[in-house]
Amino acid sequence: MGSYRRVLLKLSGEVLAGDSPFGLDMGAIKKICREIASIAESGLEIAMVVGGGNIIRGAQVTGAELGRAQGDYMGMLATVINSLALQNVLEHLGIPTRVQTAIEMREIAEPFIRRKALRHLEKGRIVIFAAGTGSPFFSTDTAAALRSAEISADCLLKATKVDGIYDDDPAKNPEAKLLPRITYMEALQKQLKVMDAAAFSLCMENRIPILVANILKEGTLRDILINGKQVGTVVHLEKE
Ligand code: GTP
Repeated sequence: MGSYRRVLLKLSGEVLAGDSPFGLDMGAIKKICREIASIAESGLEIAMVVGGGNIIRGAQVTGAELGRAQGDYMGMLATVINSLALQNVLEHLGIPTRVQTAIEMREIAEPFIRRKALRHLEKGRIVIFAAGTGSPFFSTDTAAALRSAEISADCLLKATKVDGIYDDDPAKNPEAKLLPRITYMEALQKQLKVMDAAAFSLCMENRIPILVANILKEGTLRDILINGKQVGTVVHLEKE
């Protein structure tokens, strides 16, 4: 087993849409959940945060009629929809889960209670934190960083559609190189946008390593979290 005992897995909403630009692709969700289920069975404690970009993108809806706060609240509700989808599919695979929401909606899910979340994790349940931080002006990456700190996660694994962090935009520059390990300071100096500034500084202050990897590649989660392999990029404190 790798050196991780408790991880927070941050999924972008987009990965739940599969090849579609929007919505929920149950085939894609099942594939991701099978990957998660295969690591959950190893005894690793897993918490999750999912974005909402497959349902609503704050930047697109925010304008004169709809302020940032309102757009963000709509985005938070989108994360609840995604969290419930993940819960259902994971439970179909036999993995016990609990959804906790940052905005109380008790008919739908438990409210976020840190100590209860910790008990769930200890009992082997995947805890999915929904509705972001509960406040507008914070991204779901910031929610992921905050919850990682609150549950003392050993790392925050940002699962995306790209292989990791590059020294340049790989979509524009074919020479761009994947960076296997970088320090928080290097990421800041090189202006590599790993996460927004609030999320990044929460991780840095609390010394939570950020792992960036491609969840769509089969076996990646297992390789990183169970087999201890170096895949994707690790953002950490010190240069070794
Ligand atoms: P234990 O303390 O280990 O028994 O945890 P538990 O989560 O199994 O117990 P609990 O009785 O709190 O929850 C039973 C089920 O009800 C679980 O699926 C919870 O997610 C769910 N649940 C608990 N509290 C709430 C709530 O406030 N709202 C909703 N919608 N579901 C809840």
